[in-house]
Formats: sequence, C-alpha cells, structure tokens
Amino acid sequence: MEISHIRNFAIIAHIDHGKSTLADRIMEQTATVSQRESKAQLLDDLAVEQAHGVTVKSRTVRNFYTAADGQEYEYNLIDTPGHVDFSYEVSKSLAASDGAILLVDATQGVQAQTVANLRLALKNGLKVLPVINKIDSAMAEVEQTEQQIKQLAVQFLDSPILKISAKTGLGVDAVLEAIKDYFPAPAGQTKAPLKALVFDSVYDPFKGIIAYVRIVDGQLTAKTPVLLMAHDQKLPNKEIGSFMPQLTALDSLNVGEVGYLVTGLKDPQALRVGDTITSQTTPTAQALPGYEPAKSMVFAGFYPKDDHYHDLQLAIEKLALNDSSFHYAAEVSDALGPGFRCGFLGIFHLQIIRERLHDEYQLDVLTTAPNVTYRVHLKTDDTLMVNNPIKFPYFADIDYVEEPFSNATITTGNDVLGDVMQLADSHKGQLVDMANQGDLIELHYRLPISEIAYDFFNALKSISHGYATLETTFADYDIADVVKVEVNVNYATVDALSFIVHREDAPAMTQKLVEKLKHTIPRKLYPMPTQAIVEGKSFARVDVPPLRKNAAVNGEKRSTSKKQALLRRQSVNKRQAAQSDVTLSQDVFNAVLELS
Ligand code: GTP
Repeated sequence: MEISHIRNFAIIAHIDHGKSTLADRIMEQTATVSQRESKAQLLDDLAVEQAHGVTVKSRTVRNFYTAADGQEYEYNLIDTPGHVDFSYEVSKSLAASDGAILLVDATQGVQAQTVANLRLALKNGLKVLPVINKIDSAMAEVEQTEQQIKQLAVQFLDSPILKISAKTGLGVDAVLEAIKDYFPAPAGQTKAPLKALVFDSVYDPFKGIIAYVRIVDGQLTAKTPVLLMAHDQKLPNKEIGSFMPQLTALDSLNVGEVGYLVTGLKDPQALRVGDTITSQTTPTAQALPGYEPAKSMVFAGFYPKDDHYHDLQLAIEKLALNDSSFHYAAEVSDALGPGFRCGFLGIFHLQIIRERLHDEYQLDVLTTAPNVTYRVHLKTDDTLMVNNPIKFPYFADIDYVEEPFSNATITTGNDVLGDVMQLADSHKGQLVDMANQGDLIELHYRLPISEIAYDFFNALKSISHGYATLETTFADYDIADVVKVEVNVNYATVDALSFIVHREDAPAMTQKLVEKLKHTIPRKLYPMPTQAIVEGKSFARVDVPPLRKNAAVNGEKRSTSKKQALLRRQSVNKRQAAQSDVTLSQDVFNAVLELS
C-alpha cells in the first residue's frame, strides 16, 4: 500500500469506555471479520481478559477501508489496555501509531485515565480525535461530556467531536472517514535502509518468537536477511505478514506498515521489545531510541506447587517475552526450595500474571507477600538494594533504610473528596497540591509505594463507587522506619513468610497475622506455637491448636497407664515432626497477603 494511504492509530480511553467494542465494530464495518465470525470482544482473547472483562495486552489488526472518495486505505488499529497497571502497554502502542482515537463514555464523562492517556498521546506527538461513545444509553449525557472534552483545552480543537454508539454501530462510519481525514500518513523514507521498530512480541510454541514491527524506513521482504541491532544478532527471517486479525503471511511490509516477523528464535530472552530490526546487507546507521524499560514496583516470590520448577521457568520466560513489564530472577527459600522473585508494575499486574500461568500453562504457584525494593544502608557504609524480605539484613547491622515514594495523582469527584483524602492520609500520603480539572478535582500526593502496592487502588475504587482514578510515577527514595517481621512456627522460622512493614504498623499487623495463621496453618497432633518476631522480640503469639485432645491437659477420666501411653505417643509424634514440616498452602500465604 502506498504510504499516503496508510493510517496507524490507537484507541485510548478510560477503562470500560468501550475501546474493544469500537475495535470490533471497525473490523466489522471494514469487513476484516464477517459478522458471523465476530463474537463480542474479538480482540480480548486471553482467558484472563474475558474473565475480568478488561484488556491486558495490546492487539494489532490491519483493516482495509474504502473511503467516500472511492479509494482504499490501510488502517492499522492498535487496541490498548485501560487499567492503570498496564499503561506501559499503552505507551508501546502509541510509539507505533500516528493518531489516537480518544474514546469517552457519555454515561461517565471525562475520567482521570482519559486525561492521563491523552497526555501520553500528546507526548508521543500523536494527533488526537475525540469520540463520545455510548450515546444510545439512557444515561448518556452527551452535551455535558462534550463540554468536558472542550475544557481539556488541548490541541485537538481542529477536529470534530464525534458521537457514536460502538454497541449499535451508530456513527462509526463517520469515525472511519475521520481517521483518513485527521490522522497523518506515516512519515518515512521508502528508499532508506530498512529500519523497523519492535513494539511488541509473543511466543508461539511452534514458530518461536514473533516480533510485532512497524516499518519506520525502507522495506522488509520475506527474503531480507535481517539483523537485531541491540545484540547484533542475525536472523534467518522465516516469515513476515500482517494481522487480519489472524497472522497472515505476506511477501513484503512497506514503509509505514505494521506487521509481524517470525524470528525463528526459541530463546525467549533473545528479543527485547524496543529493539530495531535492519537489513544485514544494507544496515541503517542508527538504531531507533527504543523504550525506557518498565520499572518494577512490586516484587513477590513465585514458587512451583508439586515440583514443577522447570515448567514454571519456561512459562515465566515466555510470559516475560509477551509482557516486557514483567521481570524475574531465580531465588531459593529454605521452606519452599527453588522459585522466582518476580517484579510487577502493581498488584493487579501480579494477579493477572498468576492467572495467565494458570490459564495458559496450567501451572499454579505459591505467591509470597509482595513488597517494594528497599535501599538498606548498613553500619559498614555499604548499601544494599533489597527486594526480598528473606535477604533483608539483620536489624543490628542496619544504619537506616530508604523506601521508594511515588507522585500520585488522584482524580475524583467532589462528593467523595473527604473519603478519598482520608484514605490517602491513612496510607501515609502527604498532600502536595490540589487543582480543578473541569468538574473533577485533581489531588497530588506523595505516597510510599509500599502503601499503594497492595489494595490502595481497590479501596479508592470502592469508596468512589468506581469513579476516582489513580496515576502514579516513581518519585525518589526517602527515609523509612521499617522492620522485618519473621514468622516462627513451632520455633522454626518459615523464611518465605517474612515481610517488611512500617514500624508503627507492626504491633497491629503481627497480632492480626497470628490470629489468621491460627486458622490456616494445618493442625498437627500437638499444639504449635506460632510467633511473629520483630527485631528478635516476639510481638504476637498464638498456639495453633492440636488435632486431638491433649492427654496431659484434658479432664477426661482415664487410667494413669492409658494417659501415660497417650503421652508417650504424643511425645514421639512431636519428635518425629521435623521443624520444617509445616505445609505451606496458599491459604497460609494469604494470611500475609490479606493483612493490609
Ligand atoms: P477495557 O479493555 O477493560 O479497558 O475496556 P474497553 O474500553 O475495551 O471497554 P469494552 O469495549 O470492553 O466495553 C465496556 C462495556 O461497555 C461493555 O459491557 C460493552 O458492552 C459496553 N459498551 C461499549 N460500547 C457501548 C455503547 O456504545 N453503548 C452501550 N450502551 N454500551 C457499550
């Protein structure tokens, strides 16, 4: 396709404003998929996406559109996730696009994620087309939504504000025309050496790594011998093609086009998203700037259930390839054996990865309590970065500890402002600034990342009935008064249950923890003292009750010899019980996970 007839665009919006539904309609109206083929949410094909009703991975699809001028255009559509934990996916999609449809739900109006994604799009130099969705709904407030969009006061005032129902298809034809009229064709040089951006990748069990590429300059043909510039790696180049939406082989991808390249690489670590692909024979002089790597905010241990370490390793490697914001490294726990320390953008991201392991690889993992990376300054003047509580230094060796803080922007309506501020307060938030954003109020907080890593987002959603939103960016490290909590069961430390908390929260949290453990640790024939230890002192203790009545304490009438026999049996049982034989089920870990 001639470059002037290509449009690469993304759809961005607040969560649930209808991106995937609009993508489905566009595919239907351009006959990319027939109505018969089309089932709701065609692009959200991961099981986790259907279960949660949200998009987790960005998708790409090529559509051919015959415009009112009678000419055919190639529309490469990139569907993006809306949840705050996946904004990294959004920025990758935007780097491959020239325009963005900003979709706003008329029943909800402009929301914080609308504003955040709009900022991202403008930062990437994209042309933005605002579209109001769900105008068919009885609750739609179209005019008010239009006013809110106008109040955003950004550079898209030269484009119309379209009004549609992605559900019924009403007005979608005008969107298709506007894409051609308002979005620019890609800029790129046909004659220059090949330069292609890898903006995403997936692992296919038969084909190996498949790179999603945008041709920035030149042409990629099925015969081009290609080079991955980051590691100077030559590829045999097996197949190229496009997303229709299934992978469909083609002879060439031309300047401006979006498509895929089957690399033939089997090692999931061999390709990084953001890399540049060029030709081996006539390479380009300079690689593209690529992406800033995503920074993991939350870490947790993943351990295999039932000795499936190797399977878990393979699955994790493949997921990391598919999701470049997910990081991992091998680790070992005394209680659980070999496993992985995994890094996530947030807790929802952690949950999604766990579910993907279950759905796509049939693997269940034990997950330890999540934590952030602490900067620990030792009395020896050494500094350690610690993201695993097991490795947290002995308290007497520590001079001071720093923890990561984030700049958080909470956008909320006036009605729940008091509750929201109270929530931020109870999570050690410092209010920095407050501003009006149309009808909404924007609160700027400085918050320890450890305080937002757990359930802050859910709590915010719940007190604001789903309306308030949260955007966070890493700010810096600052002093934190934190301590390590160790859990002893039957006088042996269970390392994998350790976690780090703010000192002031330790007494209440440890008490809550032992109470929970009392009901989750599997009972034995004898009582098991369970203690939460902080800096060598026992902060809280319970006894996990025994399975059977204890001969020594029960008041039943028995003959002395029978009692003695029972006592003997119990003491043998006690001795036989190795200290580490506490079975660690996910329930036991949940006792820690659910603490905050
Ligand atoms: P995420 O992928 O989770 O960010 O959501 P999304 O923006 O892709 O939204 P999705 O397309 O999944 O739509 C969310 C909900 O809104 C679904 O229940 C849709 O059926 C509904 N919906 C989408 N468009 C319309 C519309 O035009 N009118 C009405 N009434 N409902 C719509």
